Order: sequence, then C-alpha cells, then structure tokens
Amino acid sequence: MPLSIVILAAGQGKRMRSYLPKVLQPLAGRPLLAHVVATARQLHPAAIHIVHGHGGDQVRAALPDADLAWALQAEQLGTGHALMQALPGIPDGHTVLVLYGDVPLVRAGTLAGLVDRAGPQALALLSAVLPDPAGYGRVIRDRAGRVVRIVEHRDANHKELAVAEVNTGLLAAPAAALRRWLAGLGRDNAQGEYYLTDCIGAAVREGLAVEAVIAVSPAEVLGVNDRMQLAEVEAAHRRERAFELMQAGATLIDPARVDVRGSVACGQDVVLDVNVILTGQVRLGDRVRIGPNCVLSDCELGADTEVRANCVIEGASAGERCQIGPFARLRPGTRLADGVHIGNFVEVKNSVLGPGSKANHLSYVGDADIGARVNVGAGTVTCNYDGANKHRTTIGDGAFIGSGTMLIAPVTVGEEATIGAGSTIAHPAPAGKLTLERNRQQTIQGWKRPRKAPK
Ligand code: UD1
Ligand code: CA
Repeated sequence: MPLSIVILAAGQGKRMRSYLPKVLQPLAGRPLLAHVVATARQLHPAAIHIVHGHGGDQVRAALPDADLAWALQAEQLGTGHALMQALPGIPDGHTVLVLYGDVPLVRAGTLAGLVDRAGPQALALLSAVLPDPAGYGRVIRDRAGRVVRIVEHRDANHKELAVAEVNTGLLAAPAAALRRWLAGLGRDNAQGEYYLTDCIGAAVREGLAVEAVIAVSPAEVLGVNDRMQLAEVEAAHRRERAFELMQAGATLIDPARVDVRGSVACGQDVVLDVNVILTGQVRLGDRVRIGPNCVLSDCELGADTEVRANCVIEGASAGERCQIGPFARLRPGTRLADGVHIGNFVEVKNSVLGPGSKANHLSYVGDADIGARVNVGAGTVTCNYDGANKHRTTIGDGAFIGSGTMLIAPVTVGEEATIGAGSTIAHPAPAGKLTLERNRQQTIQGWKRPRKAPK
C-alpha cells in the first residue's frame, strides 16, 4: 500500500513558555519539526502532510520545502481532530503513518517496522515501557496480551495507572478505516477533546488486528513538552551522534562534550577533544586531531591534519598534515594544500594556500592566491577591500613576506620574491628580488619630551 505520513504539529506547547511555536524549538540547531520531516523522508512516502495551527505562518516559513502538504487545524480540539484535518487529502488505499512534531528522535527503521505491520485490516502502534509512565496514555491489554484500547492518564483508573506500557502516539493504519473511526469519535473525556487514541478501541471492536510494537530504545520516543525535556532530547541526540563517531573509529575524550549538529564522515583514529561542535557537512580524514573548543562547519580536513584549541573553521578545506591554530579562523572559500600551517590569530577567507605555506601569527589573508612554500610573516594584511570592491592578492611560490607587510590589492608578488618587513606594497614585486617600502629612520637631536608644569 502507498504510504502517506501525517505529522501533528498544531499544538501550542504552553509549558515551553516561549514566543516560538513548540515544533520550531531547536534541537541540534534545527527545528524539532525539521528532524521529524527528515526522518519521514527516509521512508520515501507518497506524501507528507503537516497539521499546523499554532504559529501557523511561522511554522510554514520554517519549512519551505515545496512538496510538503499543509493542513490547518484552526482550533486545537485534540489529536483525533488534528488527524481529521489532513485526511481529506489522503486516498483510501493508503497506509497513514502518524508522527508527532514534538517527538523528534524516532528512527526511520522503527517507523518502517510499524508501517510493515499495518495493512488493509491491521493497525500498528508504537508503545514504550517507561520507568515513569505518568502523563502518558496507557496501553491496555487483555489476559491473552492482546491490545484492547488506550486510556489517557487523566481518564485512567487506579489499576490502569499502574500499567508501565505507554502509548507513544505514533501509529500506522489504513486511511479508509481511520476516516471511519475519526467520524465516530466523541469528546466525552476528561479533556473534552477528540482523542486519536480512541481509534484503537474502535479497531478492536471491528475485529482488526491491532499490534503494539514496543520501541527498543525509550530515547527515540521522548516527547518535548517543556525545556527540561528539550534538554533531555538534546542530550540523547548528542549521545547517539557521539556513539556513531566512536563506531566509525574516532576517540572522543568526553562523548558528552562533542556536539554533532550535521553529518560527519570520519576516518579512523580521529581524536576529538572536549567542547567540539561539528555542523553542516564535515569530513575528517584518518588521524585528524581536533583540540578543545573548536567549531567546525561545512569543512573537509585531510589525513593527519591537526586543529589546535579554540579554532573556528567554516566552509573551508585543508589537505593532509596541516597545522591549524590555536586560535585560528578559517572562513568560507579557504583551501589549504598539504602541509600548510595557520597559526594563532590568523584569519583566512576565500584564499588558496599552496603546499607547505605558512602564516603563523596575527595575519589577515583574504581573497589571495598563495603558491607553495610561501612564508607570510607576522602581522601581514592583504588589504583586499577598497570600500566598494574586493581585490585579489597573488603571491608566487617560495616568496617571503616580511612581518607587518600591507599588501594593497590588486597586487602581485613574484616567485621567490622577498618583501622587507614593514612594507606597504601597492605595485608588483618582482620575482627573486628584495622589495621594500620604508621611510628613512630619523633621530631628532636635542628633542625633549614635554613635561607637566610643577604646581
Ligand atoms: C498524546 C496521546 C497519549 C500519548 C502521548 C505521547 C492522545 C489523546 N494522547 O497525549 O496517549 O501517551 O501523546 O506523547 O492522542 N496536536 C495537534 N492538535 C491538537 C492536539 C495535539 O496538532 O489539537 C499535536 C501536538 O502538537 C503534538 C501532538 O499532537 O505534536 C501530541 O499532542 P499532545 O497534546 O502533546 O498529546 P498528549 O496529551 O501528550
Ligand atoms: Ca505530548
């Protein structure tokens, strides 16, 4: 059967005490709902419907993907009512998988298992056994262990409250049957809402097969209702991503202090020290070492490259055996060849440095094409911006740029050229020669330093 996924995301999330709709609260830097949509996509459904209501325009703007179908639930009358808003857009022959916008860690594999168990005459729901089931709906089974119905915490009696198996809310069922059951829902319950969970009882009464699949890891069904749970989910996400890195062969000095907020491809014997944040697409070659307090976004580092403490690297690539930092910043468009050294308080932007080149101290390298084996002395600045346009600096292989040099772009320094320290270079510096620009040093005879008059 074709699959349609419905994500319920209309709730306000009062307990967050936030101006932001709950499903837009960030987990690992992205909205909760974006995580759920990404997982839904892994199942390759025919359609993804999102039921939105609270903060509707804001929610839609946060997920601009053109293929998402939006259903408005103007008034939040319960989960059953929410699903009803999306059903008109779903053909009878489809299996419907219901997800929650505030349950972000559920795995695609778990969901595929649920969908497999649902069919024209079968409903599958995801349950979990929790040490503290308070607040959740309970899964009520008969003596033979068959699911009979779900009872909400607030509607449960003493005996039902003792049940530890809870409803996660996620379920898969045939669209035609859901349409029938939802039409028959009442709101005669403690919350005066249309409960989606009442469909379970309806399915049992009709003699459909109802199966509760127990989630292997309770972390994947964690819901976010308040900021404490948001932090728990963030921690669970961090732990999972850290385990993936370790499985790939990386050593994490403290897995609780490495945050993967994107996708990381990692070689063997990579070492990540504490407080490292990886975002976007990051590729780390074999034996790459990342020191403490580094932020790496969308970058690729070759084998044996070392990033020392306190570096920020974004949109950059480095070859093998490079040394970066401590305290270096590589900005978008930086490409370092093999064996490049970038030292402390050096900023590189939109520039290429050839093999073995070094900029070790206090420099700005922007919009520059630097050859191989170039030494960029301390305090060198490529003056790339004239207030309106950016200009490039080109430096040939083997050049030596003395400390404190201002390179006024556009400008070219030839191969093996030497620039004397303290020069301001605005014209081409020829290959193989010493070029310097310096005023004659003067000492003024008889000069006296001014002094304050005695009172
Ligand atoms: C629901 C289940 C409960 C389960 C729990 C798991 C029902 C009646 N109860 O309870 O059995 O244990 O989830 O977390 O389904 N939503 C809407 N529109 C609405 C109401 C809710 O879109 O009118 C959305 C919310 O945004 C949220 C999801 O549905 O994403 C769940 O709603 P919530 O109010 O949190 O349900 P619970 O009371 O926690
Ligand atoms: Ca909830």
